[in-house]
Amino acid sequence: MVDSLMHRNLLGRTAGRIVLAVASLALGAALLVSPAARAAEEGGHGEEHAVHWQGWKAGNVVSDKASLQRGATNFMNYCVGCHSLKYMRYERMAKDLDISTEQLRKNLIPTGAKPTDYILSTFPKAEGEVWFGRSPPDLSLITRSKGSDYVYQFLKTFYVDETKPTKSNNLALDGAAMPAVLSDLEGVKRAVFPAGGGVDAHGAKALERFEQVSPGALTPEQFDGFVRDTVNYLSYVGEPTQVEREGLGIWIVLFLLVFTWFAWLLKLEYWKEVH
Ligand code: HEC
Repeated sequence: MVDSLMHRNLLGRTAGRIVLAVASLALGAALLVSPAARAAEEGGHGEEHAVHWQGWKAGNVVSDKASLQRGATNFMNYCVGCHSLKYMRYERMAKDLDISTEQLRKNLIPTGAKPTDYILSTFPKAEGEVWFGRSPPDLSLITRSKGSDYVYQFLKTFYVDETKPTKSNNLALDGAAMPAVLSDLEGVKRAVFPAGGGVDAHGAKALERFEQVSPGALTPEQFDGFVRDTVNYLSYVGEPTQVEREGLGIWIVLFLLVFTWFAWLLKLEYWKEVH
C-alpha cells in the first residue's frame, strides 16, 4: 500500500516536472521567436523601403507537372530563340512531363525539328558575340551552377538603363548582355537606388524600389508565376531524374527489407554449426 502510494507520488512528480520543462521550453521559444517575427513584420529598421531582391525565393516544386508543362511552353516561346538545352531531347521531356506526342508536335517542337532532336537554339553562336557582345549560354545546368533562386531573381530584376546597348540592365548580373526579353509580360520598370548608392548586406547593389514605367500584359502575381514555372522547368532540365526519383523511394525501402531478410537467413546458415 505504502509502496504503491510512493510509486504514484513519484509518477506524479515526474509528470509534473515534464509538464514544467515543456512549458518553459515553449515560453523560451516564444520569447526567442517573437522579436524576430516582429522585426520581420516591420521590415527592419531604417530601410523600410529597401527591396531585398536577393532574398527572393523561386519557390518552385519540381513534382508539379502542370507547372513544368507551363514552364516548357514558356521556354519554347521566350528563350529557345537564343538559349539551348543541349542535354535534353524533346521526346524525353514529353515523356517525363506527360506531354502527348500530338501536343509536343503542335505546340513545342519548332518546325523542322524531330522529337528525337536535342533542344537546340537556331541562334547562330558567332552572331551572339556581334549582337550582344556575349553568346547566350546553354541553360541545361544553369540552376545547378547558379541556383534556382538566382535564376528567379535574374529574370525579375531587369530595369531600364539607357546607357546600355540593350537599353536595359540587371541587378543580379550587372551589365547583362541579355535584353529584357520578358518586358512585354512584366512591363518596363525603372530602378531607384538609394542616395549615395552603396551595397546591401549581401554585397550587391542596394535597391530602394522599382518604379513601373509602363504596364505589361500580366499582373505582378501572374508574372511571378510565369517566372516560377520557367525556373521550375530549368530546374527539371538540370536534373531530369528528380521527377522520377520521387517514385523510387518505395522500391529502395522494399529492396532493403528483402535484403535484410536474406542477410538474416545467411546469418542463420553460418551459425548453424555453432549453436
Ligand atoms: C535575345 C536573346 C535572348 C533571349 C530570347 C533570352 N536570353 Fe538569356 N541570355 C542572353 C544572353 C546574350 C546572355 C548572356 C548574358 C551575359 O553573360 O551578360 C543570357 C544569359 C542568360 C542567363 C545566365 C545569366 C548569368 O548569370 O550568367 C540566364 C539564366 C538566362 N539568360 C535565362 C533566360 C531565360 C529563362 C530566357 C527566356 C525567358 C532567356 N534567357 C531569353 C540572351 C537571351
